[in-house]
Amino acid sequence: MTSGTLLQQILDHANRPDPYPLYAALRETPVSRQDGVYVVSTYWEILGLLHDPRLSSDTRNRTPGAGGPLTADEEEDPNLPVSFLRLDPPEHDRLRRLTTRAFGPPVCPRRVHDMRGELSRMVAGLIDGFEGRDEVDIVEDLAYPFPVMVICKLLGVPHQDEPRFHAWSEAIVSGLDPSGGPGTSEDSGRPAGPATSDGPATSRGPVTVDGPAASDGPAERRRGAQQARRELGMYLAELIEEHRRTPGDDVLSALVTDRGPEGRLSPVDLVVTAVLLLIAGHETTVNLIANGTLTLLRNPGTLRRLRDDPRLAIPLVEELLRFEPPVQLLPQRTALADLDVAGTTIPKGAPVWLMLASGNRDPRRFTDPDRFDPDRRDNRHLGFGSGVHYCFGAPLARLEAQLALAGIARRLTGPRLVTDPPPYRRNPVLRGPRHLRVAFDGLA
Ligand code: HEM
Repeated sequence: MTSGTLLQQILDHANRPDPYPLYAALRETPVSRQDGVYVVSTYWEILGLLHDPRLSSDTRNRTPGAGGPLTADEEEDPNLPVSFLRLDPPEHDRLRRLTTRAFGPPVCPRRVHDMRGELSRMVAGLIDGFEGRDEVDIVEDLAYPFPVMVICKLLGVPHQDEPRFHAWSEAIVSGLDPSGGPGTSEDSGRPAGPATSDGPATSRGPVTVDGPAASDGPAERRRGAQQARRELGMYLAELIEEHRRTPGDDVLSALVTDRGPEGRLSPVDLVVTAVLLLIAGHETTVNLIANGTLTLLRNPGTLRRLRDDPRLAIPLVEELLRFEPPVQLLPQRTALADLDVAGTTIPKGAPVWLMLASGNRDPRRFTDPDRFDPDRRDNRHLGFGSGVHYCFGAPLARLEAQLALAGIARRLTGPRLVTDPPPYRRNPVLRGPRHLRVAFDGLA
């Protein structure tokens, strides 16, 4: 049992396995002020703010020192360029449009269908690798490598370099973690390349040697994240140059060579966008697949139904995005004016956190919200956000999760959890198991 404000308890790693009773307590006050932050926890209020241009995602609008659990010296380096995730319209819209043009198929729902065959073969290949074993770690053996293979293939990043950018990705994501305390042992040992007793292998680049360790506090984590951003940026800048000289059939090549009516991305925007896509491809879908496997194994009736009818994967993944969303909260907004929300005035300049996972369990929006129900109709969850920043990769992430979960249901006979609850990653923003050990009798 932990103490402190509700917000501190939500950030506390001890509560990661089940933060939902804390969100229920939060919703008693739809907008509350905690630790200097305005926390919004109810569905309609979150949705309204996601569509309100007076709430900014632009880090340059932040009031120094007003970060609440983030203190002034932990805030991001204002000299580092930011991606369109952290920009407001019209800058945001122009960069997002240019990126969408280059990305094409994977973010266009109709054409995502074309990638089905190739993605199915990737899932089948990874599950074939379970042959001869009686236990796997779903995170290491499927949920992580699958989306990484996909995003590398799409972007045109050599998969053999994965161990290097894996560590950068981890450092960058740990910088998103706003919680105050040091990490826990559960967060060490990320599935990736080889590691030594002194730390991860040097082939992953300098950040892995000196970068964020499980014991780091938030200031160290944010400095490690900035360093990782620079190093990953340099790696991608070199790669982009190669793609400019010898373009291939991939997104990076399209981004450097395409010139549409709006021109093309500047060299800096190109690198920053590539970092955003690579990180998004690394750190989100893994949690959807792992949270999904965990939920299925806790609901054996649904698992059986999915085995018999893979089409159930479509509504099932939607329900997962509501019930166990990989992105639990958005801690990055700033009020550009006084905002009246549910009877509370959020003053101009105040930091605002939108608690997506709490909105998804709001009984004023969803009937019986704590029940996992893949047959739920009217499931407009907040799992991919909403408004101008609505997830760019949603069609791709949906397809990846549908194929992975249908594959697990169909191929693993007698699957069961070895540890429940599993150990969780420390990150309260991107929440998911660090490992998910599943025992099984064989492969179909
Ligand atoms: C934005 C969730 C997968 C690319 C977002 C946002 C959420 C989200 C909640 C809104 C952030 C905000 O409003 O500040 C997820 C989840 C995923 C996933 C739950 C997997 C299950 C992906 C993938 C990609 C991607 C695979 C890349 C191909 C992006 C980008 C944005 C974004 C570029 C920024 C959009 C903008 O600012 O206009 N995502 N995402 N996401 N996502 Fe995803």
